[in-house]
Amino acid sequence: MTTRLIEGSSADIDAVMRVMGDAFDPAFGEAWTRSQCLGILGLPGVWLTIAYVGEEPGGFALSRLVADEAELLLIGVRSAFRRVGIATALIERTIQIAATGGAIRLHLEVRAGNSAINLYHKAGFTEIGRRKSYYRGADGQLYDALTLSMDLNFLKQ
Ligand SMILES: CC(C)(COP(=O)(O)OP(=O)(O)OC[C@H]1O[C@@H](n2cnc3c(N)ncnc32)[C@H](O)[C@@H]1OP(=O)(O)O)[C@@H](O)C(=O)NCCC(=O)NCCS
Repeated sequence: MTTRLIEGSSADIDAVMRVMGDAFDPAFGEAWTRSQCLGILGLPGVWLTIAYVGEEPGGFALSRLVADEAELLLIGVRSAFRRVGIATALIERTIQIAATGGAIRLHLEVRAGNSAINLYHKAGFTEIGRRKSYYRGADGQLYDALTLSMDLNFLKQ
């Protein structure tokens, strides 16, 4: 089955919420609501990339560019479509769009212990900071937030 990446908009909110409902473990409260997504999609510098597997939305990445700094706000892949490179492809597209828009760095924040950290390291991000007890899970447990970053200047060489 081929995977296509498309740049989306608030018109694609149903596809985003389809992925959101499946990808994020409710134990960690990391999923965004429909209105949070629609709110951010209306802001300047925010873009959405959706990965379609056939006609099915398999994953998405939501990102933002402010001046020369970009941030990967949220990335998720439905469990049925994992470990075949969809998130990697979404990150590569995000890097490309961020750099084209003038970003020199791409940042993200992730809960300590999230297995997505392996994905980010493999994609080339490095840890630059840690916020103690930043996330609160559904059971009240606190988790640190890690800040990861990637220098995009290598794309200009
Ligand atoms: C994290 C997530 C986006 C990865 O999506 P994916 O499409 O399966 O990722 P990829 O197939 O591109 O993985 C690339 C590499 O990342 C690493 N990786 C990805 N998921 C991993 C996991 N669960 N455990 C360990 N390593 C993992 C592996 O090195 C993998 O390469 P490999 O499959 O050859 O071993 C997906 O598991 C997800 O949606 N998780 C829940 C949402 C979430 O936590 N998002 C991140 C915070 S916003």
